[in-house]
Amino acid sequence: MKNKIIVTGGCGYIGSHTVIELIENNFEVVILDDLSNSTEETLSRIEKITGVKPTFINIDLKNETKTKEVFSNHKDTKAVIHFAAHKAVGESVQKPLMYYKNNLYSLLNTLSAQVENNINGFIFSSSATVYGTPETLPITEENETQRPFSPYGNTKKVAEEILDDLIKSNPNFAAISLRYFNPIGAHESGLIGELPSGIPNNLMPYITQTAVGLREKLMVYGNDYPTKDGTPIRDYIHVVDLAKAHVLAVKRIIKKEQEKALEIFNLGTGNGFSVLDVIHSFEDVTNSKLNYEIVERRAGDVPKLYASTDLAKQKLGWTASKTLNEMILSSWNWEQKLRNKTK
Ligand code: UFG
Repeated sequence: MKNKIIVTGGCGYIGSHTVIELIENNFEVVILDDLSNSTEETLSRIEKITGVKPTFINIDLKNETKTKEVFSNHKDTKAVIHFAAHKAVGESVQKPLMYYKNNLYSLLNTLSAQVENNINGFIFSSSATVYGTPETLPITEENETQRPFSPYGNTKKVAEEILDDLIKSNPNFAAISLRYFNPIGAHESGLIGELPSGIPNNLMPYITQTAVGLREKLMVYGNDYPTKDGTPIRDYIHVVDLAKAHVLAVKRIIKKEQEKALEIFNLGTGNGFSVLDVIHSFEDVTNSKLNYEIVERRAGDVPKLYASTDLAKQKLGWTASKTLNEMILSSWNWEQKLRNKTK
């Protein structure tokens, strides 16, 4: 008998890569997704890669009645990985209520449905944004959390607080919160990857869309930060490395190996790269010039963020394996296939 895992947001960027890793590790996967920022075609691509088409339920998790109904039909689920959320930082500043409603109602309905059906394992898709502007680097899980700049970021922080209250009230419930640094890259097949709707907010898709000719030029938001070349430093992490960490977290929960009812792990490489590092690496690995311009800073950007990865290594037995060049090449491969252009 395979262990059944519910993956909310399983058609999305990180969700779909995680579904593949779960299937390859012999789990049965049920995807819950409302396709608000993804497409059903991802399912056939997952099938193409793994030979297995996961069960798919099109559901808006803001609907409590329907959420409970779905979970009651899958009472034998061992754990839930909760990706489903809106994630555009800028949009969340414009539409805070939409973000709080979407990200928190769906979380609360998922957790309530789990408790009602005695499904006691939960893995949460969190973010390094909960550290705000860190005072010490690399960031360990012991770093104080701060009120994130954006409502999006705050939904992640509040969600972790909700989990903390839940585990204290319910001795059966076990959760792992995974704080991602900057996920980039795509599956090696080039069949799935990041598909931002509209104009990308994040650096990597903006770079690949510029290089492929969809955008005229990349705006580099500021070169007057206190870093080696003035552009902000981030810890970029390959999405497949990230996906593998979720499988290890699921196994840890199923085997009851947790040391605390709520465990928190940073997921990054521990290496910091500036925006200009990423641009220059892109130019090197693709042997091309990228059209870019230095412009004003973007509101809310932190100068430097990179992870201490010791805890994930010790407890999950996980380390990131892909280099920045490998991440960039896989993003580029995906973008080119997507646009049907091969160089
Ligand atoms: N950048 C540009 N031009 C762009 C896009 C980004 O110069 O067009 C720069 C940003 O200013 C920043 C760096 O590239 O210095 C990385 O920006 P991203 O938007 O790719 O990533 P962020 O670090 O801002 O955000 C990421 C996630 C968020 C999460 C945050 C936590 O996308 O979901 O990390 O730190 F909240």
